[in-house]
Amino acid sequence: MSRVYNFSAGPSCLPEEVLKECAAEMLEYGTTGQSVMEMSHRSKAYEPIIADAEAMVRKLMNVPENYKVLFLQGGASTQFAMVALNLGNKKGKAAYINTGVWSKKAIAEAKKLGIAVDVIATSEDKGFNYIPKVEKIEGDYDYAYICLNNTIMGTHYEYIPETGNIPLVADISSCVLSEPLDVSKFGVLFAGAQKNLAPAGVTLVIIRDDLITETPRAGTPTMLTYKTHADDGSMFNTPPCYTIYVLGKVLHWVEKNGGAEGMGKRNHEKADYLYNYLDNNDFYHATAQKGSRSLMNVPFLTKYSTGAADEASVAKEKEINDKFVKEAAAAGFVNLKGHRLVGGMRASIYNAMSFEGVKALVEFMKKFAEANK
Ligand SMILES: Cc1ncc(COP(=O)(O)O)c(C=O)c1O
Repeated sequence: MSRVYNFSAGPSCLPEEVLKECAAEMLEYGTTGQSVMEMSHRSKAYEPIIADAEAMVRKLMNVPENYKVLFLQGGASTQFAMVALNLGNKKGKAAYINTGVWSKKAIAEAKKLGIAVDVIATSEDKGFNYIPKVEKIEGDYDYAYICLNNTIMGTHYEYIPETGNIPLVADISSCVLSEPLDVSKFGVLFAGAQKNLAPAGVTLVIIRDDLITETPRAGTPTMLTYKTHADDGSMFNTPPCYTIYVLGKVLHWVEKNGGAEGMGKRNHEKADYLYNYLDNNDFYHATAQKGSRSLMNVPFLTKYSTGAADEASVAKEKEINDKFVKEAAAAGFVNLKGHRLVGGMRASIYNAMSFEGVKALVEFMKKFAEANK
């Protein structure tokens, strides 16, 4: 059995050479005589591992000195609460842009925690298939919030809103290190690791020092206070040691492949190739509007997704989608089933997916279209 091309939205494929290195070091890491999985997080052997992971984040993302890099748990979903609890501690008011499932969840969480949420723009009118243009955000807000890349809808901001003195928070779970990003434009950035960084289990948080408050909203648990983790170098409690070790290795792989610039070049080549095919054939089409398209997540439909709600049309659409996903898997292209909210298929083409993988997928798509036209 050889390795498949894995188009999963997350957890997703990791660079093969990283997996091989992890395998080689599984029983004995260096001269320690133990696996990284077995080490105390406070040991001399582990200290350089987490220090290197942090240093690599700082280097590759060009993180300014006045920001902390934290490795937390609870997934990106826990950040929906942490952001509200820690940043919403002054006026209790925040601006959110609603671009789909993940921003909706963040909005719901902030509201639950008593934040007065202003949804200042939304793309719900068109099923979230585009990013609304909000060049400037002004108002009496503790923070403004965006989801930079929308994993499910396959949309991505091609601009960063100007927010003046209002700290801008961005969920970058599905686009972290996919191309260069100016960290200094943000107050907080966070990303679940399980797409571009590592296996699941760690959340990367990059936060500007002045936003690390002693006084989050009343009742905020210790574990949900950024200061707890910032003061203890992400070691307040046991961190996800092994995941952080893999993250470090992935970042060295990113560096070897040209850093954020190298990833951007590689990702544009892959995405351009796939969108170009989707835009120039009469069997498939991309769902996200041009000018808002994700480099990482590419949802697409076939000509059988007509929007017609009659039983025969719905059945035909389902039959073709199921057939595509099944035949693709048999041919070695897995996890292409679209999210139920968009339907059809979705190819997630994160950093570790090669250009060859995307090219091979397009060849498969051509054959499938020919056989089912
Ligand atoms: C953009 C985005 N934000 C948040 C999440 C939730 O992440 P987690 O499962 O780590 O809580 C996801 C998961 O896919 C995501 O794609």
